[in-house]
Amino acid sequence: MIRFDNEFIYLETPNTLLVFEIKDYIYDDPSFNEEGNKLITQRYYGPKSRYKEIKPEESKMNPFGACYDYDSNNLIYSYFGNGNNSDTSLLILNSDNSFTNRFYFREAKVIKGGVDIVGPHARNIKETLDIVEVDESSAIELHHYYSLCDDNDVITVKVKIINKGDKEFFLRKIASLETPIESKSLKIYTYYGKWLEERIRHESTLNSGIFVNASFAGTSSHKHNPFINVIDLENNLYYAFNLIYSGNHKETVEVNPVGHSSIMIGINDYAFDYRLKGNDSFVSPEAIMVVSTSLDETRTNMHKFVNSHIINPSFQYKKRPILFNSWEGSTFDINEESLFEMAKLCKDIGVELFVIDDGWFKNRNDDYHALGDWTPDKNKFTNGLGEISKRIKSLGLKFGIWIEPEMISRNSEIFKNHPEYALMSKNRHPIERRHQLVIDMTNKEVRDYLFNSLSKVFEEAEVDYVKWDFNRFLIDVYSSTPIRAGEYFHNFIHGTYDLYERLTKRFPNVLFEGCSSGGGRFDLGMLYYSPQIWTSDNSVAYSRSFITSGTLEGYPQSTMGAHVSKDTNGCDRTSTLEDRFNINCIGGFGYEFDLREFDDNTLQLFKKHNEFFKKHQYLIQFGSLMIIDNPFDDNRFYSFIINNNDEAILFVSELIKGNHNKKWRCKGIDSEANYEIVFRDQNNAPHVEPIVMSGKELINQGIDIGSISLNEDVEEGYQGIYSRIAVLRKIKN
Ligand code: GLA
Repeated sequence: MIRFDNEFIYLETPNTLLVFEIKDYIYDDPSFNEEGNKLITQRYYGPKSRYKEIKPEESKMNPFGACYDYDSNNLIYSYFGNGNNSDTSLLILNSDNSFTNRFYFREAKVIKGGVDIVGPHARNIKETLDIVEVDESSAIELHHYYSLCDDNDVITVKVKIINKGDKEFFLRKIASLETPIESKSLKIYTYYGKWLEERIRHESTLNSGIFVNASFAGTSSHKHNPFINVIDLENNLYYAFNLIYSGNHKETVEVNPVGHSSIMIGINDYAFDYRLKGNDSFVSPEAIMVVSTSLDETRTNMHKFVNSHIINPSFQYKKRPILFNSWEGSTFDINEESLFEMAKLCKDIGVELFVIDDGWFKNRNDDYHALGDWTPDKNKFTNGLGEISKRIKSLGLKFGIWIEPEMISRNSEIFKNHPEYALMSKNRHPIERRHQLVIDMTNKEVRDYLFNSLSKVFEEAEVDYVKWDFNRFLIDVYSSTPIRAGEYFHNFIHGTYDLYERLTKRFPNVLFEGCSSGGGRFDLGMLYYSPQIWTSDNSVAYSRSFITSGTLEGYPQSTMGAHVSKDTNGCDRTSTLEDRFNINCIGGFGYEFDLREFDDNTLQLFKKHNEFFKKHQYLIQFGSLMIIDNPFDDNRFYSFIINNNDEAILFVSELIKGNHNKKWRCKGIDSEANYEIVFRDQNNAPHVEPIVMSGKELINQGIDIGSISLNEDVEEGYQGIYSRIAVLRKIKN
């Protein structure tokens, strides 16, 4: 709810409050004051429970005050020329060759729903506060949009800038969100990584100076995910921020010696320089923020927000099929018959969707060739993909394929005919990564080509699912079309969004899964189009515990592609198939093997796993998840519980074997109820009879899974992990 009360504006979510105050701007020279300029400041952002009524501030904003006045002015948005002398959210090279602006508050109004939508954005917005500021020169108008959804505490924030004059200016920086925090002692969690090691939590303590988390790769990147947590250690408040964007992003946290800190979230200003001619406007991507008194609450809010306000409504809270993917088992060595044999085995073990990964298109026998030539390889599929798709569908399975639209191989027909489609700097040798170049997504002709050739394949093969990969970063950012260098990165990602938009509209029932050399583009922009994203090429149970744990802080389990596979990629701590299932059976679950290599016993085990998964699928994929043991806090344990009404499912694992004497304390269950606890039967552990415990005991003392079961693990010489799953059912009186 948004309400106005004299000079105050209140934005209320179910549990938090954001308060702005409009203030007079007082000059020493009284003649200036006749203009009646006003500024808008942020006076409170936090839980409602901590809010104490704020009186209008006595002191007016005075640009000629003491030296430090403007270090603590709490303006809702900073820009060069506001006297702050800090890094700013906005930087404009004006037509008068200055960087200086002075924005004054003009008006604020409430708009129903979302507004000025460009690219991926929060869906089902209830209302938006539009705060308008105008530059002293009158030629530039700024709109700050704060949007609320009525079902959780996340607030979305973005900015629109309009050139109201007739002279062009250059936008050098435009953050989407800025918020002050009244604290000098912050802890920041960022989720950084690389291929096979995505979203590893990193902790930094900041008592002074500037902390930056940013991507420079043209994509949100493996290196630095745009999701961050900021913990105010003075006030014990937990903030989380993210950006609905897949390009270069930047999160800046500055602790100011005067006693407050500020946070800026938005597009990275690195190599960013956007020209705005008269009447042009620019809308920033939407940033999101939430604040609460615990990490559990910020995480739950983020999960609900993504599931209800980011994911494509056709897939919201809809069970995701168990899939088989050909990559880890067969790589490029595929053909119709070998795949069909595997599809029959898939049917037997309970898989629901069969996916042919890389290698189905003409001349694609290694990663040196054919990206961009999106026509099926007749040597592998004599009658095209339509035939294999029909055969697979006749088994009762769904059918899907892999694509990598934003790439082009130098060894391809399309490159031969259209070298100008590739990103290459003039007069410089292009740098290849994974032997490939990037295709020019800013070029409409390229996007039309991709839309047409991919649509043809999707139609012919009647695909139900598409894995959209992106296996390198941008280096030679140069287009054959006349586009300014400083606009390239942003327009590239909007080119990708345009293609995604067209393909998802043309094929509304196709489930897209994002991917980028594993989880290198795991962000809200991608999740807007692809309800799930391949989390990592590393499926090793031990490493996955960390990768999943980091990912879960910002993204719900339903969005994570997680497969049981060879268990060798990236770490030698291999574990049993039982443990691999326990760790990977969340989110978009599946398998990556050459299934023909397994004996009947193993196939029966997979079948048993799938039966268990299907029985609890909705609870696992969409229940409310709470972390019990975060391996980044204590690397011996990893466990969480997922709740939905009267049922919960508990996942526990010891990452380092030992007699830890540990009891696992449950969260989110009913303390007044009794629960029947049924352990999933595993063939590496003795069967355990169901037990009954009270909710109170489960919450307060916890359950001693060690002596009930875990200590009995049959070690089989594995160095992996030791894990169990238990289903908790409320006993009705
Ligand atoms: C990337 C993906 C893999 C697979 C290969 C195919 O590495 O992460 O899952 O799709 O590409 O080339």
